[in-house]
Amino acid sequence: NWTMDDFIDQQIQKIRDTVGDKKVLLGLSGGVDSSVVGVLLHKAIGTQLTSIFVDHGLLRKGEADQVMASLEGKFGLNIIKVDAQKRFLDKLAGVSDPETKRKIIGNEFIQVFDEEATKLNGIEFLAQGTLYTDVIESGTSTAQTIKSHHNVGGLPEDMQFKLIEPLRTLFKDETRELGEKLGMPHDLVWRQPFPGPGLGIRVIGEVTEDKLAIVRDSDFILRDEIKKAGLDEEIWQYFTVLPGFRSVGVMGDGRTYDYTIGIRAVNSIDGMTADFAKIDWDVLQKISVRIVNEVDHVNRVVYDITSKPPATIEWE
Ligand code: XMP
Repeated sequence: NWTMDDFIDQQIQKIRDTVGDKKVLLGLSGGVDSSVVGVLLHKAIGTQLTSIFVDHGLLRKGEADQVMASLEGKFGLNIIKVDAQKRFLDKLAGVSDPETKRKIIGNEFIQVFDEEATKLNGIEFLAQGTLYTDVIESGTSTAQTIKSHHNVGGLPEDMQFKLIEPLRTLFKDETRELGEKLGMPHDLVWRQPFPGPGLGIRVIGEVTEDKLAIVRDSDFILRDEIKKAGLDEEIWQYFTVLPGFRSVGVMGDGRTYDYTIGIRAVNSIDGMTADFAKIDWDVLQKISVRIVNEVDHVNRVVYDITSKPPATIEWE
């Protein structure tokens, strides 16, 4: 595609002209946008780029390792990975209100990022994966905030950086095309939407390590079976949630009293409205059987058949 090749050359030149011999910092979230910015900047300025990847422990199974293997291992980015799972869990202890959880996760993220950034010297620029849609939304949105959408990678308030936002003119699909052009792995480029607060809002109510493990393991099985069924690029977003109540079941000749897992799978264009995905019963059955057999403390699986509106896509 001529246009995208042209865009890459122009952006690389522009980044080099802007940055000169100075240093740039990037917050990697594991998502498409910041990853594409990372690879593009690395191509333009190589080791003048330092990235910080805060692992808040709320990512999906294997995700942090995948980001490191791909961006550091394959593309050679210099990434400071911060293992902050315990910090986030401590901050979230005893908190069950969804909006409070979001704020805590967002604030803690900025705090950890800020602390790491302060240790670095001579950084002049901060790169961000801002897309055209972000520019429009933050500029003109009068819509009521239904959920505060904290995107990871927020700007530390007391730090003075100049911003670099090479994706500012691109839509999501163009960003993906750019990622493909840059040789990034298909899985990363076509990653389904994933909220900044991550699994923290898929454990309903108070987040604990045990509950995170249940939602993470069940989500992994769901993704595996959806992929095996060839639906991974058909369904817009799919994940599991842990509502946190327990119900009665039976196993062998004993009674169980354990957790329920909810499956959410939706089709959507932009996340503003959505229809639940009409997944084949056979596929759903396989998923259900595996989750109950393989994930400890789950004895029931339910499928969410509400659309948005009136339900939202996430349960919190
Ligand atoms: P809802 O639940 O509002 O979700 O119907 C719409 C889309 O947005 C994602 N989402 C978030 N993304 N930070 C994000 O970056 C958030 O706090 C957040 N909450 C929801 C959700 O996964 C869905 O794709």
